[in-house]
Amino acid sequence: MKFFIDTADVQEIRDLASTGLVDGVTTNPTLIAKSGRKILDVIAEICDMIPGPISAEVAATDFETMLAEGRKLAALRSNVAVKVPLTPGGLKVCKALSDDGVKVNVTLCFSANQAILAAKAGASFISPFVGRLDDIGQDGMELIGDIVAIYNEYPAFKTEVLAASIRHPIHVTDAARLGAHVVTMPPAVLRQMYQHPLTDKGLAAFMADWAKTGQSIL
Ligand code: E4P
Repeated sequence: MKFFIDTADVQEIRDLASTGLVDGVTTNPTLIAKSGRKILDVIAEICDMIPGPISAEVAATDFETMLAEGRKLAALRSNVAVKVPLTPGGLKVCKALSDDGVKVNVTLCFSANQAILAAKAGASFISPFVGRLDDIGQDGMELIGDIVAIYNEYPAFKTEVLAASIRHPIHVTDAARLGAHVVTMPPAVLRQMYQHPLTDKGLAAFMADWAKTGQSIL
């Protein structure tokens, strides 16, 4: 399972990259706005920090402009994955860019049928938004399971299921259990994944006992 970080905060990315556990980064217009920086600058900086796919989202909604934006973003660095919305125009852009060998992440997916369309359009990633479905009383994780099961029926589909809109560590466990290829999570969720009170308690006890021995390994 791959871990992507869902942020445009380069400090956070640099810090988490040092764990060796980060395979890629996802951004969106909201996260770019939050960074307060120009999209081309921030995407280039992230691409130079993390070798894996860095999702950079188009900002237009019409086909021609989205395609031009996608081509510009893709030309920035070879590890850019162009992110497009799950609309008829977005999927046309997905097909055109994928045919040119550009990785495309189709975002704002809320149904299995949308995921089937994205796979047929040659998407490298489909991003079902788990948390936003949970927010409206639907089971976001059920959608992850459905898409994984459907894609598994069609080996010709090369699209990876990228569980997005992750809100807490249990979402990560559930996505892993269901076979999602990738989870993109906010930095805080990755940090939470390390934590267990029994780990802290056990380590404190080991350290106290070790101190009593007066030994040193080095
Ligand atoms: C994914 O690519 C999106 O950027 C993200 O996961 C959206 O998450 P949110 O619903 O917390 O905004």
